[in-house]
Amino acid sequence: MSVILNDLVKEEISKVSEVASYLFSKGWAERNGGNISINLTEIFTGLPESFDEFTYVSVANFPKEAANKVFFVTGTGKRLRELNKPEKVSCIIKFDDSASGYHIIWGGNNDPSFRPTSELISHVKIHLDKIAEGSDHRTIVHTHPIELICMTHYYRFNTDEQAFNFAIWSTLPEVRAFVPRGVGITPYTLPGSEALADLTVAALRSKDVAIWNLHGALATGRDAHEAFDFIDVANKGATIFLKCLASGFSPLGMSQENLDELVEVFGL
Ligand code: 13P
Ligand code: ZN
Repeated sequence: MSVILNDLVKEEISKVSEVASYLFSKGWAERNGGNISINLTEIFTGLPESFDEFTYVSVANFPKEAANKVFFVTGTGKRLRELNKPEKVSCIIKFDDSASGYHIIWGGNNDPSFRPTSELISHVKIHLDKIAEGSDHRTIVHTHPIELICMTHYYRFNTDEQAFNFAIWSTLPEVRAFVPRGVGITPYTLPGSEALADLTVAALRSKDVAIWNLHGALATGRDAHEAFDFIDVANKGATIFLKCLASGFSPLGMSQENLDELVEVFGL
């Protein structure tokens, strides 16, 4: 049993499939690593009159604001590299009117045991916060970018957000320009936990990318490409920084004055 998807919804899902292929080719999506979601509530049409035939999953302590929202979300334990067949490894869920559970109304490989990502609470809380702050970001990408994770293993960058941002911004002007608010670092927190969700929501209020210490990165965007770009550009800075160190020298780095000039001239 499945609903019919309109062209707008299909278009957003096809962007997710494309981005997932980039994540895998970059080595950021090992096995089931990473998860992606889209808030489809405003563009989804054709909800069924009755949900009786669809799998229902109860949840505890989800925010009431999730009621009646419709989300595309990748499945837990599923390979993102198989998102070229989204109906097999992802699903669309619709929360009920008390947010005490949701129905899986599309995808899920028609498998009654299929479940959304274990990071669902993070995805839902971030989507709700983006709506509340009037943002037009409707897509979330969480992935395991090698160099950004590597940076968090270094004691200097594990907690010092300012040092982390200066290190990646000063590697090339584009990082300062296209990750203008920088990255926010959340302390190591249990994957899938509500605590991680809350820390991430807070980080993304002022930063373009949340770095999950010793785990990965997460960003939002108007679509999957934009969310990916934030992480990709930040990871480029981390890669250059680490390659300099691996080559046996400390990066020269653009100066604070160089960075300030970019902010002034380009109005970042
Ligand atoms: P899921 O397979 O549950 O989405 O978990 C992958 C992951 O990256 C957890 O952070
Ligand atoms: Zn992860």
